[in-house]
Amino acid sequence: MFQSDLFLTRTPESGKVFARMTEAVLRALVGSMDHGKAYAGLPPEQLRKLLQLPELLPDQGLGFEALLDELKEKVLPNMVRPDSTRCMAHLHCPALMETAVMELVIGAFNQSMDSWDQAPAATEIEVEVIRHLCRLFGYGEGSDGVFTSGGTQSNLSGLLLARDWFCREKLHHDLKRHGLPPEFRKLRLYTSELSHFSVEKSAHLMGLGYDACVKIPVDEKLKMDACALEKRIESDLKAGLLPFCVAATVGTTDFGSIDPLPELRKICDRYGLWLHADAAYGSGAVLSAKYASRAAGLGRCDSITADFHKMFLMPVSCSVSLIRSAREFDTMTLHADYLNREEDEEEGYTNLVNKSMQTTRRFDALKVWFSFRMRGKEEWSRIITTCIDNASFVYETLEKDPDFETAVPPELSSVVFRLLPPKGSQEDADDLNRRLRKTLMHKYGAIIGQTVWKDRVFLKFTLLNPRQTRESLTEVLELLRSLR
Ligand SMILES: Cc1ncc(COP(=O)(O)O)c(C=O)c1O
Repeated sequence: MFQSDLFLTRTPESGKVFARMTEAVLRALVGSMDHGKAYAGLPPEQLRKLLQLPELLPDQGLGFEALLDELKEKVLPNMVRPDSTRCMAHLHCPALMETAVMELVIGAFNQSMDSWDQAPAATEIEVEVIRHLCRLFGYGEGSDGVFTSGGTQSNLSGLLLARDWFCREKLHHDLKRHGLPPEFRKLRLYTSELSHFSVEKSAHLMGLGYDACVKIPVDEKLKMDACALEKRIESDLKAGLLPFCVAATVGTTDFGSIDPLPELRKICDRYGLWLHADAAYGSGAVLSAKYASRAAGLGRCDSITADFHKMFLMPVSCSVSLIRSAREFDTMTLHADYLNREEDEEEGYTNLVNKSMQTTRRFDALKVWFSFRMRGKEEWSRIITTCIDNASFVYETLEKDPDFETAVPPELSSVVFRLLPPKGSQEDADDLNRRLRKTLMHKYGAIIGQTVWKDRVFLKFTLLNPRQTRESLTEVLELLRSLR
């Protein structure tokens, strides 16, 4: 009646079909790993054409084998390979083997994290992983957290809690019940000019608008200028505005620069503000024995964003929103008779939907639970340290080389630089670097980043792959030079 068994069940036949399908896909995956390039596929127009479908839902199904062939012929060869040492454009990591395998468990068992009765072991594991992560990032008793779809949602979650806390504590206004307070246009959120755009986007999503998000300049090391922040808070207060939160960045997207958390904490304490740390990128540093001090002060922030699909090398998606005071999660709680009844908690059933803006949610905690325990502290320290050391190596190499110009010394694992043309104007340099990035991708299968620094086009290496070596990095630098 059906083309094959529909689900993985206890019958031996279904187990065999599942194993056959999985093995066939595995063989296809391994078979597609024959080149070391980050991209060996088609350019956009040809790829679009190749992947156009006459119909998504044919009258008669094509069957597993035909679709697997199509996957092998058309899809896998046109995928970016984050595992390649030539893949270093974005905060887009290769997936550690065991975490990719855990995706099979996550998908096949399809637990949903909203309620205990959809995810018993998964709920207890997420609670336990969060408890330990709170300690790892320096939180004490009374803290809590939840897994989210990524840094964007974790930032929104932390900032929402900040907004509601301020309205409750300072304006005596129950925002959850009554919506934004009458003076909502005066609320102000401070972040550096280099913070991730999800902070500004959150201001809009929270009903405050982009104007509520004040961009503070950075110093020469690209860290938020704490003096400029304090001056701006002072002048906003004098103007009758309502500063409620500072959103610090622990690892800016392009440069990896880290805002001065201890100084920002003092300012927030002085003026009664919430301190949020967007450590989507820099949270990885806490696992490095050599570099953990760079993320010092995280534990004194009121909320933290940490992404496991960046420095921690786990498949998308995997992120957490951690909160110093668990009671603030009340913002996310609304009881529904069909899902998270109040009596459940009294009877010992934890429904994690009470902390999340998502309802149905993936069991991403499994990847952290498995990989942290499987590899242990020393190996994790080596992984993160290697990536940060690699960035220092690239920076120091380029600093000495007159053919290149660098932006700032890296604090994490990103290096921003550009190649200088033998002779020519700034515009020539911009054109050269733009052209080099595209040539590298389509001709040499190397994907590197491009950004703007001091109004000029710069290139970027984002080094999340601990398999990169001085040799593999030098090879790409020499390739760039040869294309000048
Ligand atoms: C500093 C920072 N914060 C937040 C984000 C958003 O994370 P995600 O893409 O997981 O939503 C990013 C993404 O690169 C980032 O660099």
